[in-house]
Amino acid sequence: MRMVVTGATGSLGTRVIEDLLERVPADRVLAVVPSGRAGAALAARGVRLAVADLDVPESLIGVFRPGDRVLLIPADDPAADRVAQHRAVVDAAAAAGAGLLAYTSVPGALQARAADVHRRTEGLVLASGVPYTLLRTNWCTEAYTERLPLVLHLGVVTQAAGDGRVASASRADYAAAAVAVLAGERGGHEDRTYELGGDTAWSLSEYAAEVSRRAGREIPYRAMSYDAYLASLTAAGLPGFAAELIAGADASIARGQLGGVTGQLSRLIGRPTTPMPWSVAEAMRGLVDAD
Ligand SMILES: NC(=O)c1ccc[n+]([C@@H]2O[C@H](COP(=O)([O-])OP(=O)(O)OC[C@H]3O[C@@H](n4cnc5c(N)ncnc54)[C@H](OP(=O)(O)O)[C@@H]3O)[C@@H](O)[C@H]2O)c1
Repeated sequence: MRMVVTGATGSLGTRVIEDLLERVPADRVLAVVPSGRAGAALAARGVRLAVADLDVPESLIGVFRPGDRVLLIPADDPAADRVAQHRAVVDAAAAAGAGLLAYTSVPGALQARAADVHRRTEGLVLASGVPYTLLRTNWCTEAYTERLPLVLHLGVVTQAAGDGRVASASRADYAAAAVAVLAGERGGHEDRTYELGGDTAWSLSEYAAEVSRRAGREIPYRAMSYDAYLASLTAAGLPGFAAELIAGADASIARGQLGGVTGQLSRLIGRPTTPMPWSVAEAMRGLVDAD
């Protein structure tokens, strides 16, 4: 049985493929990529490629086979009709008789405009009749740590999460969960919805304290309003969709929607999730001296 991954060259997809290659032979992995050039590195490692543009449903004809375990990772292109992209994958997987359709969604507790696409896609997945697994992932710790060069430069953590807490996990943790579902020999993930997040929820004050400890200097957390934060992200050049997503996540954290700890991620991957301080330490390696 094959494991098929869309968005395979993106930041989550790359990690998923890496983990899959440790579990199954490369020729059982099919990466759906927008161009052969994008997937060249994967092909060199023996991964099968299917070149398909999610905006063009016909390009998905023949991609899936009966029994395939499919992981739909959204392409996340703000300019695209993302629900239409997801419908194209769901329809093609269903038409081919896929054995499993897993989808990386957002937490059930999240109430934000950015969640609409995911709720509608979940509806499509459920209506497809294909055995499904909804991987509702909480926020990713790297969403914060990848901004550390700027934080160290400015000497302040500016976010709009108030005193809220977020049960984030690392990208590696979420990828491991997707692989557990796709490559799990015993199966058992059919028609399940998982609320995936870290074992410990943390606040931005705790995050700033951890960054300060690692940097060897005081780097405070300055809480901003949603509007001010959105404006600062837009002024920094982020497209409206991305700025709304990031600021919206903070607003959800402030409202307590992303702080729930379910333990489902660590159970799925068979180990504790990566603690926030570990992710900070990893990201700070080399940064402090360079600052
Ligand atoms: N990143 C994480 O840690 C993480 C964790 C949990 C859940 N997620 C979820 O996973 C999703 C993707 O996140 P990401 O960070 O991996 O995004 P990303 O890095 O932007 O990756 C998007 C992928 O989609 C491909 N793509 C773009 N347009 C396409 C099209 N029209 N047809 C086919 N493929 C197309 C891209 O290929 P090119 O690069 O060649 O354009 C790339 O491989 C998001 O919904 C996110 O919420 C991400």
